[in-house]
Amino acid sequence: MELTLNEKRLLVALGPMGSAEAAVLAEKMDTRREAVVQYANLAGDRGLVDVEKHVARRYVPTEEGRAYMGKGLPERQVLDSFEETIPMRDLQSHPLAKIAIGWMRKKGWIAITGGVVQKTGKTAPGPDEAAFARLAEKGEIADGEGVADLAKRGLVEEEETVAYTVSMTTRGRELLSQGLDLREEVGTLTREQILSGEWKSLPLRRYDVTKLPKRAYPGKVHPYQRIIDEMRGILFDMGFEEMSGGIVQSSFWNFDALFQPQDHPAREMQDTFFLGERRPLPAGYQRVRDMHEHGGGTSSTGWGGTWSAEKAEQCVLRTHTTSLSIQHLAAHPKPPVRAFCIGRVYRREAIDPTHLAEFEQLEGIVMDEDVNLRHLLGFLKEFYAKMGFEKVRFRPGYFPYTEPSVEPEVYVDGLGWVELGGSGIFRQEVTEPFGIEHPVLAWGLGISRVAMLRLGLRDLRQLYRSDVEWVRDTPTYGGRR
Ligand code: PHE
Repeated sequence: MELTLNEKRLLVALGPMGSAEAAVLAEKMDTRREAVVQYANLAGDRGLVDVEKHVARRYVPTEEGRAYMGKGLPERQVLDSFEETIPMRDLQSHPLAKIAIGWMRKKGWIAITGGVVQKTGKTAPGPDEAAFARLAEKGEIADGEGVADLAKRGLVEEEETVAYTVSMTTRGRELLSQGLDLREEVGTLTREQILSGEWKSLPLRRYDVTKLPKRAYPGKVHPYQRIIDEMRGILFDMGFEEMSGGIVQSSFWNFDALFQPQDHPAREMQDTFFLGERRPLPAGYQRVRDMHEHGGGTSSTGWGGTWSAEKAEQCVLRTHTTSLSIQHLAAHPKPPVRAFCIGRVYRREAIDPTHLAEFEQLEGIVMDEDVNLRHLLGFLKEFYAKMGFEKVRFRPGYFPYTEPSVEPEVYVDGLGWVELGGSGIFRQEVTEPFGIEHPVLAWGLGISRVAMLRLGLRDLRQLYRSDVEWVRDTPTYGGRR
C-alpha cells in the first residue's frame, strides 16, 4: 500500500502512543487542526487510523451573565440589600429592582403586604444559584441542575466544542514499524535532477490511475443549434440551397402573396405581432391585388371585395417562413428551385411547456416540371428518416395557399403521433401572379418540437434557457446519430 506524504506524517506524529487529539497532532505536524482532521479522515478511509468525534456542550456567560458574575443573581443582590422589611417604594430605587422583585416573589423569598416587603425566611439558594456560582468560579460550566434555568433567563449560552481523537489501527502500526520515508515527494523533475541522476534517489509521486481527473468543459455548440446544423446538413445533402430573409416582413409577403384573405382570422391581433412600420409594395403587386379581388387571369374567383394596399404595407414579425419561400420564388420563377431556410417565427401564443410565442420553422420549397404530391411526401419522409424518425404519416390539412394540403406526423414511442407542421402544393392563386408556371411543393415544419423529442425534453422552454449545466450534460450526439 502506497502512502501519501500526509498519511506518513500523520502516522509518525501519532508515534508510539498510537492515539492523540487532533489539536495535539496539529501542533506536532505544524499545521491547522482542520487539516489534521481532513488527513485523518482520508487515512481513516484507507484503514490506517480510526477517527473518533466527541461533541462536548458547555455553557458560558452571556453579557448579562458576566455583569452579575461574582456579585450573585439580581434577586440575591437585592435581597441582601435590606434587613427583614423594606417599604416597596424604597426597594424600587435599587437599580436591579425591576428584574429582582419578580424573581424574589417567584422563588417565595418575599411577601408584599400593604406596600411593605417582608422576607419569608425561606431564602436558601436554589440549584440555579449554585450553578451560577460554579460558573463564576470556572468561567464555564457543563450541563447540570439549574443550568437550564440560567439559559432560559439568557444568562448563559450553549457552546459546542468538537474534539477528534485519532488512533492508529493495526495496519497503521504495521506500516509505521516498517519505517516511513518522510521526504517531500517529487511531482515534477527538473532538468538538473535528470541530468545529475539525482532523480534515481528521489521519492517520486506515484500516479494514481484510479483517481478521476477533474472534468474539463470545453466550449460546446448548444444542443439545439447542433440539431439545426444537422438539419441544414441533411438538406444540403438533399440538394437544397439556403434562403434567408428578415424577421420583419410586410403583410404583403407574409399574407397577401400567399393568397391569405385580408380579413383572414390569422391576421387578427391575437395571432400576429403587427408593427408600426410600413414597407412599399413590390413592382407588379397589382397582380396579387387582382388575384384577391377576382382571380386575375385564372379561372379562380378570388376572395372578392376590395383589396387594400395599405393593409398589405403594414409590417409584422413574420408568422411563418413561408413569407421567404414566396419571395424566393418571385425572384426565381423558373425551374428548378430547391431551397430551404431555418428561421424564427413569431405568433401570439399563450406560453406553456409546448407552446412558445417564438419558435423555429424549417421551410422548404421544390419547384420543377411535373413534381407532384408523391414527390412532396417522399421529400418529407426522407428528411424525417434522416432525422431518426422512421414512422411518418400524412393527414389532410388546410392552408389558404396550398391545395392539396397535408400535415406530416411522426411516431414517437411513448407519445404516439406528433404533428410537426404543414405542407402542400402552392395554389395557382399563389404562383400565377409571379409568373411561376410549374408546381411548387412547399412545407413548413416546427423544428423546436423535433429538437424537444430528440433531446428528450418535457418543456420546450428548456431550449431557450441559459442553462449551462444542461448544455454541459447533454451529449454531443444523442442516441440516434
Ligand atoms: N406556413 C405553414 C405554417 O406556418 C406551414 C406550411 C408551409 C404549410 C408551406 C403549407 C406549405 O404552419
